[in-house]
Amino acid sequence: MKINNRLKTIGDLVPLSSYSLDIGCDHALLSIYLVKERGFSKAVASDNKSGPLKKALENVKFYKVSDKVKLIKAEGLDSYIEGIDTVTISGMGGLSINKILDDNRSYLKNINTLILSPNNYSIAVKRKLIKLGYHIDNEVLVKDHNIIYEILVFKKGRKYYSYKKLFLGPILMTKNDSLTKEYYNNILDSKKALLKALPKSFRNKILLTKKEIKYLEEMLNF
Ligand SMILES: C[S@@+](CC[C@H](N)C(=O)[O-])C[C@H]1O[C@@H](n2cnc3c(N)ncnc32)[C@H](O)[C@@H]1O
Repeated sequence: MKINNRLKTIGDLVPLSSYSLDIGCDHALLSIYLVKERGFSKAVASDNKSGPLKKALENVKFYKVSDKVKLIKAEGLDSYIEGIDTVTISGMGGLSINKILDDNRSYLKNINTLILSPNNYSIAVKRKLIKLGYHIDNEVLVKDHNIIYEILVFKKGRKYYSYKKLFLGPILMTKNDSLTKEYYNNILDSKKALLKALPKSFRNKILLTKKEIKYLEEMLNF
């Protein structure tokens, strides 16, 4: 089936024996990929708007997987159904992802794996998940249409992270490939631009940004 590199990478991180819910599914291609290409027997895809779900229904019919992909119209985790143990959320801002998880925390007791790909505020997402009792199990970067996306895999269980590890990513910082370097370089450029733009009165933010620039430069062996 036709699926972009970003969604395929997320789909490939879904544990094989799991029952997954994709929140904010839009076209539902991620869930369709799981049943059609990875052999899952079932998957749930949800969205809180009718337009995306109409598209999702068309795709589910087109790929002939109506018996395997359940579509639900609901707000965030309200689409949870018994047995789901994995949640994916991608293509949304980090703060929206945090709100979805916060609004219905009780369902998280059944969720062992969360695969999240926020468009921004990824450090806020990491902090939120740690607060909710998860740790970072994997961090994967994928380049699609010249944009680098970060995919975070969280599993149940607590771990402590220093600010440096949280900022750089405890797993990403152990990688030395060209995509990770490019990713860190992009962040370095944006942090340098931020430092230039910050008013002198923002003392704490200036100190933090300088520290982050130092961490990135160390990683990039400046
Ligand atoms: C930009 S699309 C991302 C689609 C897909 N997940 C992807 O990564 O390509 C975001 C989708 O999330 C849906 N959405 C936004 N907030 C939501 C919420 N609180 N609950 C469920 N769906 C939501 C939107 O309607 C939209 O279809």
